[in-house]
Amino acid sequence: MEGPRVGLVCSTSRQGSTSMKLLRCYEQILHQRHGVFSEVLDLAQLPVDFLMAVLYQPTKASHPEWQQWQEKVDSLDVLVFVIPEYNGSYPGILKAFVDALAYPRSLYNKKTAMIGLSDGTQGAALAMAHFADVLNYAGSVTLPLRPRLIQINRYMEGDQLTHEPYLRLLEQHADSLMALVR
Ligand SMILES: Cc1cc2nc3c(=O)[nH]c(=O)nc-3n(C[C@H](O)[C@H](O)[C@H](O)COP(=O)(O)O)c2cc1C
Repeated sequence: MEGPRVGLVCSTSRQGSTSMKLLRCYEQILHQRHGVFSEVLDLAQLPVDFLMAVLYQPTKASHPEWQQWQEKVDSLDVLVFVIPEYNGSYPGILKAFVDALAYPRSLYNKKTAMIGLSDGTQGAALAMAHFADVLNYAGSVTLPLRPRLIQINRYMEGDQLTHEPYLRLLEQHADSLMALVR
């Protein structure tokens, strides 16, 4: 039987984000522990005219690049959102992305999960609570386990997460995710 189709969403469009580095680390963990190859959805790669030609536009379904994003979301069984804390919440681009997805089919009954990170001491706890409300409203089934990786940049060495306790948290999350989707 085919494994679950997993999408990893980098929930910021900030170039060089730590979110993207963590996402790559989590991608490796999923592969090494569960043999899963994930799809990466990097919000930094949204169409350059996303705000003017996609978001809230009735013609968005015929935007070729956006069509590929929508098709990708439709094809996945589970989406894992790696969420940085921005001004005490989640990045605006993430809400814009969800607003642009076809409603209600895109997230309804879709399994989702979150991993939060911040420079400060919240680890995006509030950000994930805010986004959980959005996911629940959209009818998604969300994994309750939500790692909060506080002061994340103290624990990165270049592109790598080297802090063992955080690595264990991500492994535990990956295991719980697979238990939810398998
Ligand atoms: C616009 C913006 C707002 C931020 N707001 C917060 C915040 O409210 N609390 C916090 O702990 N860190 C905040 N940070 C720092 C991020 O948590 C930090 O950059 C971390 O590496 C995750 O974000 P990144 O994936 O963009 O790197 C903010 C960063 C940006 C770019």
